[in-house]
Amino acid sequence: MSEALLDVVVRSCQIQGGEVLVLELAAANGQALPRFAAGAHVDLHVAPGVVRQYSLCGDPAMANVYRLGVLKDARSRGGSSAVHAQLQPGTTTRISTPRNLFPLVSDARRSLLIGGGIGITPLIAMAHALHARGEDFELHYRGRSRSRCAFVDELLAAPFAAHVFTHFSDDGADRQLDLAQVLGSPAAGTHLYTCGPAGFMDWVIDGARQQGYDAGHIHFEYFQAEVDTRGQGFEVQAVRSGKTVQVQPGQSLLQALRAEGIAVEVSCEQGVCGTCLCDVLEGEPDHRDHYLTDEEKQSNEQIVVCCSRARSARLVLDI
Ligand code: FES
Repeated sequence: MSEALLDVVVRSCQIQGGEVLVLELAAANGQALPRFAAGAHVDLHVAPGVVRQYSLCGDPAMANVYRLGVLKDARSRGGSSAVHAQLQPGTTTRISTPRNLFPLVSDARRSLLIGGGIGITPLIAMAHALHARGEDFELHYRGRSRSRCAFVDELLAAPFAAHVFTHFSDDGADRQLDLAQVLGSPAAGTHLYTCGPAGFMDWVIDGARQQGYDAGHIHFEYFQAEVDTRGQGFEVQAVRSGKTVQVQPGQSLLQALRAEGIAVEVSCEQGVCGTCLCDVLEGEPDHRDHYLTDEEKQSNEQIVVCCSRARSARLVLDI
C-alpha cells in the first residue's frame, strides 16, 4: 500500500494524565492540512519501519492543525515510547493523509459515544462534529482515575460540555457507568460508537447487543488487540514468493512468513489497521482481526495476515 505522506512539524506537546502526550501537528510548509472527518486517524511514521495509527482528536473544523493523544504503553514495541521520547515542539515528522474507518453515519437521530481511556480520542472529534451539526448526542468517558486520564478538563469546559458524562473508578458509586441505563432500549435512529481497550469495547458491544441494538447501529474501532496464536498448525503457499511455509501451533502466520524471508507490509501487527491485507486464492481463513466486516470475513476473499490463521489444512495466498 503506498500513499501520500505529509511532512509535519510538532507545534505543541503536553503531557496530560501523566502518560498521554497530546500533540498538535501543523504542515511543515505552513499550508493548510487536508480536511478530515470525525473518526479519522493518521499513520505516524515514528522511525524507519515503525508506523503507528493515532486518531485525530481535534475539531474537524480546524484545518490548520491535527491533534493526537499518544498513551505511553508499558508494552510498547517501539511506537509510543519513541513518540514520547522523540517528539517535542519544532520536531518534524511524517504522517499519512487522514483515513477514516470509523465514520459517523449521516442520518442518525441520536448518537451515543462511549469511550474508555485513550479510546476517547476519536470520540472527541465526533463530539465536535455532532455539536457543530446541532445533533442529539451524549459522550461518556470511562477511566480508572480522573487524575490519570487526559482531556478531562477540556471536555468539561467544551462548548458541548452539557453532553459530556465522566465515569472514573475513583469517583463515587453514583458516577460509575451504568451501561444498561445509558444504552437504554434502542430507539430508531440511535447509533452507538465505542472505542477503548478491547475488554472495555467487548463489554460495551455485548451490552448493546443484549439491549437489542441492531449490528448496523453499533460502530467501534479497536486500537489495541491481542494476537491469539492458539490453534493447530497449517500450511501456507505464498504464490508470488514461490514458497510454501508451515505455520506451527503457537506461531503467528506473520512470524512464519518472516522466518522464510517473505516480506509483508505491516503497521499495527494486531489486526486493527488493515495494512497487511492479502488476497486468499484457496483455503478457509480463521479470521481473528478487528478490521474486516462480518460480510468480508464470510466471503473469505481476503485475510489479515498479522493475526489470522486457517480453518483448512492449507491456505494459498497472493503474497
Ligand atoms: Fe495492521 Fe495487520 S498490520 S492489521
